[in-house]
Amino acid sequence: GEAPHIPKERWSFSGPFGQYDPAQLQRGFKIYQQSCSACHSLQYVAIRTLGAATGPDFPEAAVREIAAGYQVEDGPNDDGEMFMRPARPSDHFPPPFPNEETARLANGGAYPPDLSLIAKARAAHAGFPWFVFDAFTQYQEAGPDYVHALLTHYEEAPEDVELAPGMYYNTAFLAGNQIAMPPPLSDGQIEYTDGTPETVDQYARDVAAFLMWTAEPKLEERKQIGFRVMLFLVVFAALLYFTKRKIWSNVA
Ligand code: HEM
Repeated sequence: GEAPHIPKERWSFSGPFGQYDPAQLQRGFKIYQQSCSACHSLQYVAIRTLGAATGPDFPEAAVREIAAGYQVEDGPNDDGEMFMRPARPSDHFPPPFPNEETARLANGGAYPPDLSLIAKARAAHAGFPWFVFDAFTQYQEAGPDYVHALLTHYEEAPEDVELAPGMYYNTAFLAGNQIAMPPPLSDGQIEYTDGTPETVDQYARDVAAFLMWTAEPKLEERKQIGFRVMLFLVVFAALLYFTKRKIWSNVA
């Protein structure tokens, strides 16, 4: 097949001063909730983090309401039994399937991976040694670039390609052009209340940004610290330079 085609996109969180766009992360969460969560877990993410100011920034009441919409397993109770109860913000997102075996059974043998860290796990296509310059290059966006590309590169299989049963043709999929995930998005499928276009491309962009945030919740803090460190180094280097000049100024 063809080599994966992964275009570079512009992201609000690109570059050394880039930041997440809370409105976009809120839309991206809606896409996860209304499409992806049917098959993919997000089990390393606590629901309360949706309130993070450097993240989706949902108001506290909204976070509580979102939590209450999920059922999680708890227990054992006094009778030694497990039971279901509405989730609290401190709970993690409950998975759609109880275990991998059940998930594979429901997906024709393929396993929908947990999405909490997928934007990092699929960033490797950018290749060595770009992670060295992480905060200063575009390559930190390799993960969301890939998620966006994957969701927008479903096509009719070319005539010379025979699709295996239950597989779909996708020119971005890193493991080959045949993927077991059916196209999860279609135009107009999910309603936006802020006038943002309801297109596959926009949905893909928003959910990719959301998954970048779940994988890198401290991205903004990290960039801020990085900036202060660079500033300190510049000032410190200047001080050292002038100190050196002073110390050696009387040496003939
Ligand atoms: C795989 C994202 C919805 C089933 C994947 C992968 C990603 C992803 C990033 C990994 C691809 C790779 O290994 O490189 C999403 C997103 C969704 C979504 C963002 C929502 C917009 C769904 C839905 C289903 C599903 C609704 C089930 C109907 C699968 C399966 C795989 C997969 C079975 C494994 C594919 C394979 O290994 O061939 N998805 N997914 N996904 N997804 Fe989804």
